[in-house]
Amino acid sequence: MEVELTRAQFEAAAAAIRARTPQQPRIGLVLGSGLGSLAEAVGQADSIPASDIPHWPGSTVEGHVGRVVIGQLEGQTVLVQQGRAHHYEGHSMQRVTLPIRVMQLLGLEAVIVTNAAGAINPDFRPGDVMLITDHINFMGMAGVSPLRGPNEASFGPRFPDMSQAYDRGLRSLALEVAAQAGLTLYQGVYVCLGGPSFETPADLRFLRLIGADAVGMSTVPEVTVARHGGLRVLGFSGISNAANLDGSTTTTHEEVLAAGQNIVPKLTALIRGVLRQWPAQRQA
Ligand code: HPA
Repeated sequence: MEVELTRAQFEAAAAAIRARTPQQPRIGLVLGSGLGSLAEAVGQADSIPASDIPHWPGSTVEGHVGRVVIGQLEGQTVLVQQGRAHHYEGHSMQRVTLPIRVMQLLGLEAVIVTNAAGAINPDFRPGDVMLITDHINFMGMAGVSPLRGPNEASFGPRFPDMSQAYDRGLRSLALEVAAQAGLTLYQGVYVCLGGPSFETPADLRFLRLIGADAVGMSTVPEVTVARHGGLRVLGFSGISNAANLDGSTTTTHEEVLAAGQNIVPKLTALIRGVLRQWPAQRQA
């Protein structure tokens, strides 16, 4: 089955959110593993459990509470997706990315995506934050894409451009914010694998050879749909574990969640700063 969800189903999900808030969000925030507490910073919050939104993918992973929070953060109306679904949980790519389609239908201008990622770049340490400059769509190269199937032209083009998936203007803004706050913000390429097993040391050496700096199991499908739908994208990876290129360490989900505690304050400062200085004019 190529098309699991139709436009009508995406619209039903969007309508369920509209019915629960008078606020019109402008910017979406997707919170990754262990990073969900950022949602608590939102003021005048209208909080909607994922289970109240038709077709919304439930997350089965620890560290991912499923809800949508709409409210105010640094003078912007934001829609926060707390808890994301992953392909490895058994969801189709269309369902994994349904929240992004819903953001498009709700008229959002941009989405800020965050994730927990493993380092491939040996300079990165747990707790570091990497600004995503580009990604390697490893799953997409193998034909696993949320855009597979007949194209819904009212959402976007059959062959969407991916040459500037991560918006240049927003990246410059994030770098300025980091400099103002005295925060080190690395830059690099994110690669998404299917998971759920972590990488072998040989996997990691291979990923390093092809130019990746950080590895995770999310984000790329969402960014693909966001760009298809014309949303601008800004992405941050919180580095939860050091590059294990020689197999001398192990990686656990507990470690990923623990690193989130160090990453959240940095990411909060970055995202707050970006929202505070967000360009007044809506850009294409
Ligand atoms: N690999 C893949 N995904 C991850 C990792 C990792 O090392 N850390 C956090 N998410």
